[in-house]
Amino acid sequence: MYTWLVFIQLLGLVLFAISDGASASSALRLRGERDPPVVASHLAASKAATGPMYIGLLLLVLGGLAAAGSGGLLLAPWVIASYVVLLMVVATMYGVASPYYGRLRELVGDGTRVDQAQLDAALASRRPEVLASVGAIGLLVLVFLMVVKPG
Ligand code: HEM
Repeated sequence: MYTWLVFIQLLGLVLFAISDGASASSALRLRGERDPPVVASHLAASKAATGPMYIGLLLLVLGGLAAAGSGGLLLAPWVIASYVVLLMVVATMYGVASPYYGRLRELVGDGTRVDQAQLDAALASRRPEVLASVGAIGLLVLVFLMVVKPG
């Protein structure tokens, strides 16, 4: 049973990583773009990836909790560390990614009457680098905790 729950969790991790990876790739490409239709197309691709990303994240969290529960590990130090890391990364995504990409979507709108100066200024933000660093380090730490199980 424990093995199957870990399997579900890893399935969630793969689905999550592929989907959020699409958003990450759009986020990194966007930094070099200034043309409103191209920016809009990256934003649309990123938004489309959030559905499967949430399904992956749900499987990851539920599979992980069930596996830890069935192994009597819900309060093991490394499991608690993984709750903290996951919460910190998700909070960073909501605090840094959501408002930023929401603002870009607002600025680009339907592609007509775009204020290019405001769009240029928004696209010059360093937020994608913050997201990429926090997200990548968080993911590495989570995989480390799952595999090494320290403590
Ligand atoms: C453990 C690692 C990660 C977790 C748990 C995570 C979680 C999330 C969540 C929950 C959202 C949705 C926010 C919303 O609905 O507004 C999101 C969006 C996003 N994430 Fe991550 N993420 C992680 C890693 C990364 C990495 C490494 C990047 C690299 C740049 C990244 C880039 C983004 C971007 C750009 C969005 C916005 C998508 C959009 O609004 O179009 N994430 N992430």
